[in-house]
Amino acid sequence: MRKPLFAANWKMNKTVSESVLLAKALKNEFLGLTNREVVLCPPFTSLSAVAAEIRIAPIALGAQNMHYEKEGAFTGEISPFMLQELGVKYVIVGHSERRQHFNEGNELINKKIKSAAAFGLHPIFCVGETEEERKKKKTKAIIGKQVKEGLKGVSEFEMRKVNIAYEPVWAIGTGKNATPEQAEEVHEFIRNLVKRSYNDEIADNLRILYGGSVNPENVEGFMIKSAVDGVLVGGASLDPKKFVKIVKYDY
Ligand code: 13P
Repeated sequence: MRKPLFAANWKMNKTVSESVLLAKALKNEFLGLTNREVVLCPPFTSLSAVAAEIRIAPIALGAQNMHYEKEGAFTGEISPFMLQELGVKYVIVGHSERRQHFNEGNELINKKIKSAAAFGLHPIFCVGETEEERKKKKTKAIIGKQVKEGLKGVSEFEMRKVNIAYEPVWAIGTGKNATPEQAEEVHEFIRNLVKRSYNDEIADNLRILYGGSVNPENVEGFMIKSAVDGVLVGGASLDPKKFVKIVKYDY
């Protein structure tokens, strides 16, 4: 059984004090929720403070990015070794905003996935097509390439730590979510790819999240699909009421 994962990507929002307020508003909301997992991904500057705030809450901590090296002359970068010490469990890798604005390609993302797993972190590996690619019916070709190149040389052991998030670029921050059927089709495609590259057991245990304009109103439509194992939420995760409603969509 795959335990659904509800991930909040705060992106470049919230100062340390604002992050603490948001974490405070959330920390008692998920007590007793044993059938789903919640992770908050604040900016790097807020990781320590949020870690302290959620210490005894059933909430995991995630980072939004990382460098693949342990340490060294990489000005401005943050390493998996540093994240590990803060109690970070998850790390978002290959988000489309990083691909788009920071030129991250599949090869770099692949290095990050391997490094994250080697440091005991659980990557949330993002893939997704642009609107133009979907219009040209290239969705599967693009996602297939991103998945294959992103997971190149990733061992079975490392793969057990990986989560994949399908985030169509056209659905991110636009209010125009994919339909649950569109998500289902891509998720099934990804799971089959993983099945062929690894094995049934790894594919069956792989969590595939949907991300892109998820809100309290549309979350259930995604979650009732057996191919959808959780959601990666941007904008709506900055509002504690909305994020709680998303996590507890059927309560
Ligand atoms: P929105 O929920 O704001 O569309 O963002 C999705 C996302 O990019 C999460 O990583």
